[in-house]
Amino acid sequence: MTSREPLLSVEDLTLKVRVGGAEWAALEHLSFDVGYGEARGLVGESGSGKSLTLRAILGLLPPNAVITSGRMQFDGDEFDLARQGKQERRRLERLRGAGISMIFQEPSVALNPVIPVGEQIVDAVMRRDGMRRAAARDYAIHLMELVGIHDAEQKVDAYPFELSGGLKQRVMIAAAVAGKPKLILCDEPTTALDVTVQQQILSLFTHLRDELDAGLLYVTHDLAVVAQLCDSVTVLYSGNVMEGSTDLRAVFERPQHPYTEARLRSTPDIDRIGRRLYSIPGSAPSLADRPVGCPFAPRCEHRQDDCEITRVPDTSSIDGREVHCLHPVGSATGQIELAEEARGPSSRCFSAPTWW
Ligand SMILES: Nc1ncnc2c1ncn2[C@@H]1O[C@H](COP(=O)(O)OP(=O)(O)O)[C@@H](O)[C@H]1O
Ligand code: SF4
Ligand SMILES: [Mg+2]
Repeated sequence: MTSREPLLSVEDLTLKVRVGGAEWAALEHLSFDVGYGEARGLVGESGSGKSLTLRAILGLLPPNAVITSGRMQFDGDEFDLARQGKQERRRLERLRGAGISMIFQEPSVALNPVIPVGEQIVDAVMRRDGMRRAAARDYAIHLMELVGIHDAEQKVDAYPFELSGGLKQRVMIAAAVAGKPKLILCDEPTTALDVTVQQQILSLFTHLRDELDAGLLYVTHDLAVVAQLCDSVTVLYSGNVMEGSTDLRAVFERPQHPYTEARLRSTPDIDRIGRRLYSIPGSAPSLADRPVGCPFAPRCEHRQDDCEITRVPDTSSIDGREVHCLHPVGSATGQIELAEEARGPSSRCFSAPTWW
């Protein structure tokens, strides 16, 4: 394997959910990478498909969900997400035990209420390293200190109900890193916390990234969190990637997708105190109401006639930034040109916008 290959690569992930006899696409043709030691923000509003994406990676889907296409590469191993026989499911299960761990929004989902917190970290350490219990307990205390629990020697025997929300979240993070994962998936882990604790947990993630050199796929609805923590970003809307890049700064400074641009305009900024915050009109469509063309069309200020009827193909700019839009922001002509590529119909690509 060359060092240029990403740690995680998800390609063309489409997932459908069955409800009342009908089937709806909740995720459509999603692709993104996470490099070794890279933190990628997967950002989108509620219902955009962030949690389902993480669940697809972990092989933990709701019973009414089915993946109809999708390939995954993790640390050199290939997985066909759409064809999960017994063997494939077992391979994914092994990943959950070792290479990938998950941090949830609600610690109560992950922590067993009747087992002391230290014990729960010890279990994760022993599963990974086959360490003896006494040594694993010492290591668990070390991990609790690493995540900023000061009196870890005492707290190690506490039950979850004896700890505050912030401390429980730290315990869950300690348990998640105990198995020395190469990739940590985080599903809005600070949303339920107050702002001060949220800041502490974000600083902790920055510290852990340096300490563990693990990849991070960080799901959030909050662009400010992505700005603080991540190197790269994938912007989701209604189950579709709108914009994605390894150059976070470029996306924030020069968004090319109208949705990214609108979201940035509606994000509070210290420099704009006193000014009225932009609010994107309307709301995201439900799975059943998604438009035929661009999913963002009903709310988009850049919308043109073709947007409502033309399915937006995969597009890419010359810097490798993905932009799924027929009329990207800043385009001089308001129209990008289709390059007739020779790579076949499934890998359509556009030439660089003329303004680039
Ligand atoms: N098991 C399910 N059955 C039907 N619809 C679902 C199911 N799980 C999620 N959805 C729908 O799929 C969309 C994406 O859900 P989710 O991934 O949870 O969004 P997010 O995490 O971004 O808020 C939402 O419209 C949600 O209602
Ligand atoms: S394709 Fe059209 S409607 Fe969709 S984001 Fe681009 S300009 Fe807006
Ligand atoms: Mg979610």
